[in-house]
Amino acid sequence: MAEMIDPFGRAITYLRVSVTDRCDFRCVYCMAENMTFLPKADILSLEELDRVCSAFVRQGVKKLRMTGGEPLVRRDIMKLFRSLSRHLESGALEELTLTTNGSQLGRFSHELADIGVKRVNVSLDTLDPDKFAAITRWGKLDQVMEGLAAAKAAGLQVKINAVALKGVNDDEVDRLVSWCGDEGYDLTFIEVMPMGDIGGEDRVEQYWPLSMLRAQLAEKWTLDEIDYQTGGPARYVRVKETGGRIGFITPMTHNFCESCNRVRLTCTGTLYMCLGQEDAADLRAPLRASESDGLLDDAIMEAIGRKPKGHDFIIDRRRKQPAVSRHMSVTGG
Ligand code: GTP
Ligand code: 5AD
Ligand code: SF4
Repeated sequence: MAEMIDPFGRAITYLRVSVTDRCDFRCVYCMAENMTFLPKADILSLEELDRVCSAFVRQGVKKLRMTGGEPLVRRDIMKLFRSLSRHLESGALEELTLTTNGSQLGRFSHELADIGVKRVNVSLDTLDPDKFAAITRWGKLDQVMEGLAAAKAAGLQVKINAVALKGVNDDEVDRLVSWCGDEGYDLTFIEVMPMGDIGGEDRVEQYWPLSMLRAQLAEKWTLDEIDYQTGGPARYVRVKETGGRIGFITPMTHNFCESCNRVRLTCTGTLYMCLGQEDAADLRAPLRASESDGLLDDAIMEAIGRKPKGHDFIIDRRRKQPAVSRHMSVTGG
């Protein structure tokens, strides 16, 4: 069976694909309010995205995650999901999934479940409608709640992603834990990463280390270590009182690069071997150079051969520039 092994002996089995850098929200830690998006002419077609994803599956990828931006705002995105689901049916792929802001789940949950998606990760940092509108700059919490209800009704397992934001949702973590427990959702907290210019917002002000968040949680809840793995970077505990799972994604305080199993594709066909490094490989040229996939396969192997050891994010009071100039929405988190 094909396998991609990087220079540090890590098997690459997880591809994250940002199918669009556009989004219907503008979260304050993710985008500036007046973002410039990639020109439409540079974007890979759905057929091209399918070809690249399929090349990765052929070479050993077992988990495909569509992200963005907001993946569900890309026109006809269900066609891509549907065509990629053939790899689930053949057994080559173990998981086809997405990370979404939830705004379109009311429309698409049923179809996603029908296609073979089992789990969705939904970004939701607060349960307060006013705060939600402030974080997303105009999002409506009700719409996301309806989306979540539709996901649940369709039988999709849900994980809520909450970015830990000092002074914004630090008073809400217990509420998120009990709500997720009641709803049967997993919950992961994420440390904010210094990616992309976010206008006037200040990451130093936003940053709240999860060691502090966890200490705060431990005052109220019993957190038992568990050995639950999704192939993602979160480390999970079980909350004794709710029975729910909580994960911690700690790129800043405890990086998990040693066990990294993933690479990221942008909607223009650029492959980033690490979220926190600028080095990238162009897959669009080999993709378009030939109708057969030999050049594309070679370009993928060459890129994996230069996957770096890890990122070096720091949030530095003196450094005004983000560590990585690219926005999270371009590479899909
Ligand atoms: P699961 O399959 O449920 O484990 O999902 P996931 O955690 O892999 O994906 P999700 O889209 O929910 O990502 C949650 C957060 O983890 C996002 O903010 C990502 O940016 C972050 N993340 C995922 N992989 C990496 C990584 O390799 N490095 C860093 N620094 N952050 C990552
Ligand atoms: N730091 C940490 N997480 C971020 N996300 C977006 N931008 C950032 C950032 N700068 C999160 C979103 C989503 C996930 C894919 O990435 O909230 O849940
Ligand atoms: Fe959109 Fe997600 Fe970025 Fe918020 S974090 S602006 S929902 S891509």
